[in-house]
Amino acid sequence: MNPKYEKAKQILNKYNQQHVLKFYDNLDNSKKEELLNQIFNIDFEQIKTLYENINKIEHKQNEISPIEYTDKSKMTQREKENYLEKGSNIIKQNKYAVVTMAGGQGTRLGHSGPKGTFMLGINPDKSLFEIFCDKLKEIKNKYNVVVPWYLMTSRENNEETVAFFEKNNYFNYPKEAVKFFIQDEIPMIDMQGKVIFTENGLIKQAANGHGGVFESMFKSGVVDDIKKKNIEWIFIGPVDNPLVQMTDELMLGLAIEKNAMAVGKSIVKLNPEEKVGVFCKKNNNPSVVEYTEITKEMSEMRDDNGELLYGESHINCNLFNIKAIEKIGNEKLPYHTAFKKATYINENGEIVKSQEPNCYKFETFIFDSFEKLKNMQILRGVREEEFAPVKNKEGLDSPETARKLYKAYYNC
Ligand code: UD1
Repeated sequence: MNPKYEKAKQILNKYNQQHVLKFYDNLDNSKKEELLNQIFNIDFEQIKTLYENINKIEHKQNEISPIEYTDKSKMTQREKENYLEKGSNIIKQNKYAVVTMAGGQGTRLGHSGPKGTFMLGINPDKSLFEIFCDKLKEIKNKYNVVVPWYLMTSRENNEETVAFFEKNNYFNYPKEAVKFFIQDEIPMIDMQGKVIFTENGLIKQAANGHGGVFESMFKSGVVDDIKKKNIEWIFIGPVDNPLVQMTDELMLGLAIEKNAMAVGKSIVKLNPEEKVGVFCKKNNNPSVVEYTEITKEMSEMRDDNGELLYGESHINCNLFNIKAIEKIGNEKLPYHTAFKKATYINENGEIVKSQEPNCYKFETFIFDSFEKLKNMQILRGVREEEFAPVKNKEGLDSPETARKLYKAYYNC
């Protein structure tokens, strides 16, 4: 008798997931081993709790209020000079690094590879990854400093992402400054709370959301690497915005001047309907209300100047002190549940396909970490200089709109 198998069986019995081993005998030896390892690594207690809480309504009343911000365009010349000096000193002292969250799937975009490999269609044409690399090369030329670049991938796209960098010779950025780390996964479950399978007989898992960035930075040794290099400030940004300012000296300077643990970049929300989360205060702590969670009434509220009261859009461009990352990495972020449409193998070994959502996916969000930070500043940037999202195949926030914005900004 295989003791590993027996141990796995016990775990599954405890959580009423016995079906997981139903087709074990049909698997080849390496898949058998992989499945057993999946069982040992999955937190079934957590899955059970998440499933039980899916339909529970949270009665906790949060007090939401608008958040203060610093407006880049209204800074005085003296302020600007002060922040620039403080910010650029950090870069010159090699105390700055960038993390790009490239673990998400480009499903909405209809691109089959990792999102960063998407060619934007500029002249000469470049992938999103190359566009980001250009920004780091610019900093290298300006300060003679190689900024370490960490890319968070997912189990699904890691191999392809690394191969893309290899094939393109790291876009002539020093290869040793680029490191990849894989984010964690969490199983998807069906409407009965049972874990589901992929076609190769393994448990179907999905990336655990960008809130997993902190834990994954710890687990993969990125935090150790950062500390060994004496890096103090880390910008964590998205993969789906070619205008992302990967190095913003003003943002860094503001953080230092205000003795902040983090700075969140915002831009003015275009209209109440725009699909962006907005910064706010939750129970007096910094937070974000996601676009899927904001009420119509709240999204339409305006101040005396006619500006949206909740109009500081969160664009996933946030700067953290290493102390903030250490603090957040030691605490758990809450999971949000999404009801998704997926093709999978069910507990009877049958393929399930559906036109309607049929299973649950769990994700943590990076902005749920903000309320744990005592002093977080918000810096309002200029939309045309910061935000060209590549989200949808066509229409709003598509390659076409992003390309136009990129060309207008770079005058190319
Ligand atoms: C996101 C924000 C929203 C913000 C908008 C601006 C969330 C939940 N919402 O919406 O507040 O206003 O962008 O563009 O983030 N990613 C991972 N791993 C994951 C999931 C995502 O690395 O498991 C990365 C993606 O590759 C991307 C970024 O996180 O770089 C944003 O993710 P996405 O889920 O596409 O966010 P949106 O729903 O567009």
